Amino acid sequence: MSIAKQYDYEKKKVTTLRLKEMKKSGVKIVCLTAYDALTARVFSESGVDVLLVGDSLGNVFQGLETTLSVTLEQTIYHTKAVVNGAERSLIVADMPFMTYQVAANEAFTNAGKIMKETGCNAVKLEGGSDVVIEAISKMTSAGIPVMGHLGLTPQSINQFGSYRARGKDTDEAEKIFKDAHLLQEAGAFSIVLEKIPAELGRKISESLTIPTIGIGAGAHCDGQILVWTDMLGLTVDFNPRFVRRYAELYNLMLNSTKKYGDDIRKGEFPNDKESY
Ligand code: KIV
Repeated sequence: MSIAKQYDYEKKKVTTLRLKEMKKSGVKIVCLTAYDALTARVFSESGVDVLLVGDSLGNVFQGLETTLSVTLEQTIYHTKAVVNGAERSLIVADMPFMTYQVAANEAFTNAGKIMKETGCNAVKLEGGSDVVIEAISKMTSAGIPVMGHLGLTPQSINQFGSYRARGKDTDEAEKIFKDAHLLQEAGAFSIVLEKIPAELGRKISESLTIPTIGIGAGAHCDGQILVWTDMLGLTVDFNPRFVRRYAELYNLMLNSTKKYGDDIRKGEFPNDKESY
């Protein structure tokens, strides 16, 4: 059986409609972050349905502690690269901190700029504030698909004070549940649920008609996402419980690069076949 049949994915470009159908038919949605064309191509060709150009590019790509200083221009630059590399995956650009929180109209303009300049398929916003809900309504009415993000929303780290799981007490769990429904009513096509109890992830996923994408939100979400450098073991000093490593890229790259250096120092690279 072909991989496409086995995992029920097709070669066709993934759309927001397809994601809703996948939820309906119980086919899990595979998502991953990407920040450049090379990795976007690998991930897209390996069957990843959604590529998120996360503002985690601040942590991963720029080596920063938080995502807060990522700019609209940087998001546009990286999203363009991912669009150039990936054919099949649906591409979502994460709207940076302070590009959508102040006013719905400003959020709408910034989302339009990202869509027009990058050719991506959707944008993502964090939280369930009144401005976010209004912005989602405006964007979706204008044809801009929006993914929400609830639970541990990294742009609010200074408010939260730590990266611990959210929604563990009843009040916060109820707020997250309510916000998920507000986002769906405003027109969001999907919601990322980050670092919340698996039981809350289940309740939200079962009560919504739009797909949920979990990251540390349990197995009942309609799809899962990880930051690619965590999933492939390139980030070695970040080991939260929700990450499963499928490779040890840090060690592979370290040892391969050491060998390259050794070969140069020993005069073994280049050899005759590698010379003109
Ligand atoms: O920025 C990001 O990579 C994200 C994912 C972790 C969901 O928001």
